[in-house]
Amino acid sequence: MEIRSVRPEEHSDLADLTVMAYQQIGDLEDSYEPELRDVAGRVAGAEVLVCVDDDGALVGGVTFVPDHGSPYAEFDAEHAAGMRMLAVHPAAQGRGVGEALVLECIAMARAADRIELVLHTGTEMRAAHRIYERIGFVRDPNLDWWPTPSVELLGYRLHLEATANAAGDGGA
Ligand SMILES: CC(C)(COP(=O)(O)OP(=O)(O)OC[C@H]1O[C@@H](n2cnc3c(N)ncnc32)[C@H](O)[C@@H]1OP(=O)(O)O)[C@@H](O)C(=O)NCCC(=O)NCCS
Repeated sequence: MEIRSVRPEEHSDLADLTVMAYQQIGDLEDSYEPELRDVAGRVAGAEVLVCVDDDGALVGGVTFVPDHGSPYAEFDAEHAAGMRMLAVHPAAQGRGVGEALVLECIAMARAADRIELVLHTGTEMRAAHRIYERIGFVRDPNLDWWPTPSVELLGYRLHLEATANAAGDGGA
């Protein structure tokens, strides 16, 4: 299994995979599916990683938001980085791919000298919550927000200095 930047020829497959994974959680808001499919936009405004298995199949992806100046940033702090659109193909879930992608984002945040990694997650995304809490992310209700009246997003943050050993240092 390899984690690396997405290639242009993989944009369409990553878009399909991301939508498929998110649809497992529930119906998508009308405006959200085009946003999830816009891999090229994320490449332009952030850093998109994929996980490819030993057979070369795309099994997951995530967007690393390097700083608050990115159009994908959902935080203001200058010292923070972010993580968005974590998704693993339904057939590849439960094998650690999601955690490996999160650990890679943590490694990238450390390499960029960020002192915290911030993310938002849906209330029903329980597999994701398990990964975040196991790694050491903590809930911060001050980060919670409602992109629409019916969608509540929960904020989590990982303080990188305090959790260097718990979160692993080299990523996946
Ligand atoms: C969240 C997600 C990326 C996790 O990917 P993953 O590769 O399955 O993650 P991992 O294998 O590293 O671990 C996920 C946790 O859920 C459990 N899990 C995930 N899929 C499972 C399955 N099909 N059956 C049983 N357990 C499963 C794992 O056991 C693990 O929990 P545990 O180690 O505490 O027991 C994936 O479930 C997904 O794409 N979900 C839909 C999109 C989403 O919620 N994204 C998060 C955005 S904030």
